[in-house]
Amino acid sequence: MKVTLVKERKQKPDFSNLGFGKYFTDHMLVMEYDDSKGGWQEPEIIPFDDFKISPACCSLHYGQGIFEGLKAYKNDKGEITMFRPRDNFIRMNKSAERLCMAKVDIDVVLKALSELVELEKDWIPTLPGTSLYIRPFMFGSEAFLGVHPSKKFLFSIILSPVGSYYAHGLEPTALIVEDVYTRASIGGTGEAKCMGNYACSLLAGEEAKKKGFDQVLWLDGETKQYVTEVGSMNMFFVIDGVVCTAELDGSILRGITRDSAIQVLKKNGYKVEERKISIAEVVAAYKNGKLDEAFGTGTAAVISPVGTIQYKNETLTINNGKMGKITEWLYDQITGIQTQRLPDPFGWVYHVE
Ligand code: COI
Repeated sequence: MKVTLVKERKQKPDFSNLGFGKYFTDHMLVMEYDDSKGGWQEPEIIPFDDFKISPACCSLHYGQGIFEGLKAYKNDKGEITMFRPRDNFIRMNKSAERLCMAKVDIDVVLKALSELVELEKDWIPTLPGTSLYIRPFMFGSEAFLGVHPSKKFLFSIILSPVGSYYAHGLEPTALIVEDVYTRASIGGTGEAKCMGNYACSLLAGEEAKKKGFDQVLWLDGETKQYVTEVGSMNMFFVIDGVVCTAELDGSILRGITRDSAIQVLKKNGYKVEERKISIAEVVAAYKNGKLDEAFGTGTAAVISPVGTIQYKNETLTINNGKMGKITEWLYDQITGIQTQRLPDPFGWVYHVE
């Protein structure tokens, strides 16, 4: 792989105060796809820099763009690992299919990513709750104005040392159930990790923030009766001791942390149900004292406790607004496996060599 190094490395930020997605490493990966040149070209590592794109670049107009999020860690022996990276590229290829984009060769991008992470290993923070966030993304790069799939794509990976996704860290989040706007519906792009899903969530998110909430809990697009996800996280409820999450119906992101949480819980004897969960059921469980805990899962969010849920005029305060026992245990398990503090019986940890 061709590697062009920066002349001088940037000064690293304060790793004890990173926030999320504010700093970027010295290098990035780029790989171009061009139908007329036989498809994907060789990946390249280059200095982190702006792209030069045409004002007629189709994805600026029609949003043909997808992305992923995963993390790398460094243990006290200096060994570098990534968490389930192959699953991210499998999902990226599914998103590519939905958006009429070129699929990547997973072995090629995984090898190139490993080289990039190895090159940037001094950027991997090691304090508890920190990691190197990896953002693979791809967009249609052909210049045209008609509405049709691009014949050129740019695939890239950038890296960002991060702390907690939420400014308040592991403090429970406050959600408001969105019953006006819709994030996704059956047959739409909800399951794909595509730009448009996030753009479409912004207005509801801004209105929620103005009212003092952190995030929006989305309902299904058809009936607005069933809880789906939070946009930046999949959503779990512990109802009467049973861990429940919305079933994957094509409108909900196939979260890799969601899947990891389900597998860890089941392996440890917890009852987990993937099914339709109506907001009426959540409210009824709360009123009957059976809504034990609520939490979200995501690469960026990891396992995030939910303290309150506002639905219409009602505020559900869960576990007295504190992180629940199962949530805390799951956070420790997932981050333990990710950082090699705990054994990995699932084979999820990928060693960068
Ligand atoms: C992730 O969890 O990696 C995501 O892509 C969610 C995004 C809102 C940061």
